[in-house]
Amino acid sequence: MKIVVFSTKSYDREFLSAAAKPLGHELTFLEPRLTSETVQLANDHQAVCVFVNDQLDAAVLRSLAQQGVRVVALRCAGFNNVDLPTAREVGIKVVRVPAYSPHAVAEHTAGLILTLNRKIHRAYARVRDGNFYLGGLLGFDLSGRTVGVIGTGQIGTVFAKIMSGFGCRLLGYDEYPNAKCHELGMEYCELSKLFAESDIISLHCPLTPQTHHLINAQSIANMKDGVMIINTSRGAVIDTQAVVEGLKSGKIGHLGLDVYEEEADFFFEDLSNEVIPDDTLSRLLTFPNVIITGHQAFFTREALQCIAETTLQNIADIERVGSSKNEVAGDHSQP
Ligand code: NAI
Repeated sequence: MKIVVFSTKSYDREFLSAAAKPLGHELTFLEPRLTSETVQLANDHQAVCVFVNDQLDAAVLRSLAQQGVRVVALRCAGFNNVDLPTAREVGIKVVRVPAYSPHAVAEHTAGLILTLNRKIHRAYARVRDGNFYLGGLLGFDLSGRTVGVIGTGQIGTVFAKIMSGFGCRLLGYDEYPNAKCHELGMEYCELSKLFAESDIISLHCPLTPQTHHLINAQSIANMKDGVMIINTSRGAVIDTQAVVEGLKSGKIGHLGLDVYEEEADFFFEDLSNEVIPDDTLSRLLTFPNVIITGHQAFFTREALQCIAETTLQNIADIERVGSSKNEVAGDHSQP
């Protein structure tokens, strides 16, 4: 099939080109994001391959359908950026990569926790400057601390296992409790209890209308003083302005973000020579107890290989038999 790949980076080109060879796909790599301004670039292709910040709203999907596109292949797990009812209406199949490496995201989450707790980001800069003073670098033992996991699917479960290895007590919140988490000794509870008792809260749920701004001024008020919040799921699960207020008051002791509500305008690009016009992002970057990574939790060799192979296999399956086991049904709720 002729596939146009939007939001291409060098690593996408490397892994997708390698995976395309045995399947006989023809790939066109484009650097721009898919938006209403760039949608015409899909002309003469039957499939578009997109990532987390490409725009697949009703207007873009209708335009894709008019150009003969039959498949939207997400090279990610989340599909909150796709208007699924419109996709179904215009006859475009949507496929995704439901699982690639839950370890990649879970391990990055643990990395954020360790870095924030032991201030490794600050120690690194100090020591390189010949400053071996320890003041301000005091952390806490993870062993014995309570970790609240919101969303105990594939990533949440691997993350729970890692934190269980540190000797943490595990609380979980998920409509569908997971047997593997039970085996780790996780106690499933209401959100209110998880907020009230957790020293560390880590988000591993999808972005849906139910999880949009799940972390807000009210939920923060119910948390422990000095709580650590980690978000590697989707930016809008957190009300960022409320979190800034929580940091300013000291209620939130540490914040680790791999995702940000307005990340589409910034992440994955080198903007080091430019002024960042987003005051909330800029404010977050001033706190010593905040670490932001630019949606890199998935970014391991193993994950990229699996994403490329699964994405192109999904398209091949649609081409050959008209369906794929990784199709996203049109009745999922969307934010
Ligand atoms: P998954 O589908 O295996 O697990 C998600 C879990 O969240 C499920 O158990 C589900 O029941 C639960 N859930 C759904 N609604 C909920 C709610 N309202 N409250 C609590 N739990 C709820 O998904 P997986 O693979 O574990 O990924 C989780 C999320 O991580 C993805 O949706 C995506 O947004 C994010 N992600 C981030 C990446 C990154 O690089 N930062 C990479 C991959 C995924």
